[in-house]
Amino acid sequence: MKKRDVRLAGMCLVAVAMLGAQTDPGPRVGTESGWGQPVAGLSSAELRSFNLGLAKFREVASVTGQEPGAPGVGLGPRFNLNSCAGCHAQPTVGGTSPRENPQIAVAKEYGAGNSIPSFIKADGPIRVVRFSRGSGPPPPGGRGGPPPGRGANGPLTAGRPDGGVHDLFVITGRKDAEGCSIAQPDFANAVEQRNAFFRIPTPLYGAGLIEAVSEASIMNNLRADRPMKDSLGIGGRENRNQGDGTITRFGWKAQDKSLTSFTGEALNVEEGVTNELFPHEREDTAGCAFNTTPEDHAGIGGIAISQLSAMAEFMRLLAAPVSSRATESTERGRQIFGRIGCALCHTPNLRTGKSDVAAMNEKWVPLYSDLALHDMGPGLDDFIGQGQANGRDWRTAPLWGLGQRLFFMHDGRTTDVAQAIREHGTAGSEAYQTTAKFESLSVADKQDLLNFLRSL
Ligand code: HEC
Ligand code: HEC
Repeated sequence: MKKRDVRLAGMCLVAVAMLGAQTDPGPRVGTESGWGQPVAGLSSAELRSFNLGLAKFREVASVTGQEPGAPGVGLGPRFNLNSCAGCHAQPTVGGTSPRENPQIAVAKEYGAGNSIPSFIKADGPIRVVRFSRGSGPPPPGGRGGPPPGRGANGPLTAGRPDGGVHDLFVITGRKDAEGCSIAQPDFANAVEQRNAFFRIPTPLYGAGLIEAVSEASIMNNLRADRPMKDSLGIGGRENRNQGDGTITRFGWKAQDKSLTSFTGEALNVEEGVTNELFPHEREDTAGCAFNTTPEDHAGIGGIAISQLSAMAEFMRLLAAPVSSRATESTERGRQIFGRIGCALCHTPNLRTGKSDVAAMNEKWVPLYSDLALHDMGPGLDDFIGQGQANGRDWRTAPLWGLGQRLFFMHDGRTTDVAQAIREHGTAGSEAYQTTAKFESLSVADKQDLLNFLRSL
């Protein structure tokens, strides 16, 4: 073809695409106010807690707190970023991965010389990495057997089960870490061995409402609509805490119990800040310990409570995301969402139990999730078990706030909502039949559904 013909053919294709296919309308530009605000009707004491926690959530950490602009103490020796708000940022503090990945800049900050792993891109999602298998031979007694997933594309490495987060960066080279000389993990090798599995930050809007959802509400909902669920191949079960046997609900595999426990873990795992719940450094190499531990505890910086408690309280009191005003199209989309079975996992509402915060006491929570685990098939297997979840199990992602999200699925594999639907409906997934129903909708119906999702 001549150059001009090629261009014409290209233009025709674009025209066909515009007439013949639904499109993800893309993230709404934040017009509504309310995102990142405290829940309505708080007492003045509760508002004070919210604001104190917000300040701590935004605080940037450095190794000893001496770096200008980074007064938080305890970064490293290994870390993924230096503040909560850096990862939970879109569309406001408390959200998810922003458009520009802050992990690029932090890699070289304050004299550090970290290299950027291949899966971290300036315009890609923030990613945290887990390895499914560790190095070294499987332990004796056969416990090294096949990985906890059930798919065929598992890691090539046949070492010990791992499953843990391997932080991207080290403090080596930083001006506040003289004498520390640990190296970054070998991510290139992990990628080559198909052993690196990614997760992106989940949004925190309405996290306190999710925490307040009663166990009875989760269990009643799992038992509801059983014949319909069975006919579509939809199971679902809760994840539970080993310690006290109650339902866990936070994280992509519903692996974590509470906002307090998640905060303790995030402080130590993402930033390297030891705290009252996790008082020990994850890396104990001599020459890399600069502070007494735990680095965060009550009384530090003149506040009576720990940074940990303040931040958990901030998230607990953070309002739910604000949806846009319904239109005829989004209303039709809402009905289709129910009719084709999406709502059987993405439960529109769950109910909170009794709470001493009036705004959370026995309220319906429009989260669009059953907070339960589902087998999502080999396409989403990460070969990592957490609690009762195995490699293929994922928590139904809450869809509230989807309208302003940039990256989708646990590993951020797509920016397109329609593609996200396809990705979780491959053969072997509990969402297979609903996704097939989605594919067989008319273009107009698909568009209404996407418009509905982007209105959330
Ligand atoms: C490097 C980026 C990063 C930083 C820094 C970070 N997080 Fe996260 N956050 C994540 C990722 C990734 C997940 C999902 C983890 C998973 O499911 O394994 C997450 C999930 C969460 C959740 C669970 C929410 C839900 O509904 O599932 C909470 C709560 C949370 N983070 C709080 C915090 C707090 C508090 C801090 C600061 C101490 C923090 N995070 C710092 C990346 C980050
Ligand atoms: C069997 C339960 C189930 C059904 C049915 C189901 N989903 Fe999901 N959905 C999930 C799970 C689990 C995830 C998270 C998967 C992951 O990240 O690996 C998810 C993720 C999503 C996401 C991405 C959200 C995010 O935070 O990245 C969208 C969008 C979505 N679902 C829409 C739909 C729509 C629309 C339908 C109906 C066509 C549907 N889902 C049917 C369980 C289900």
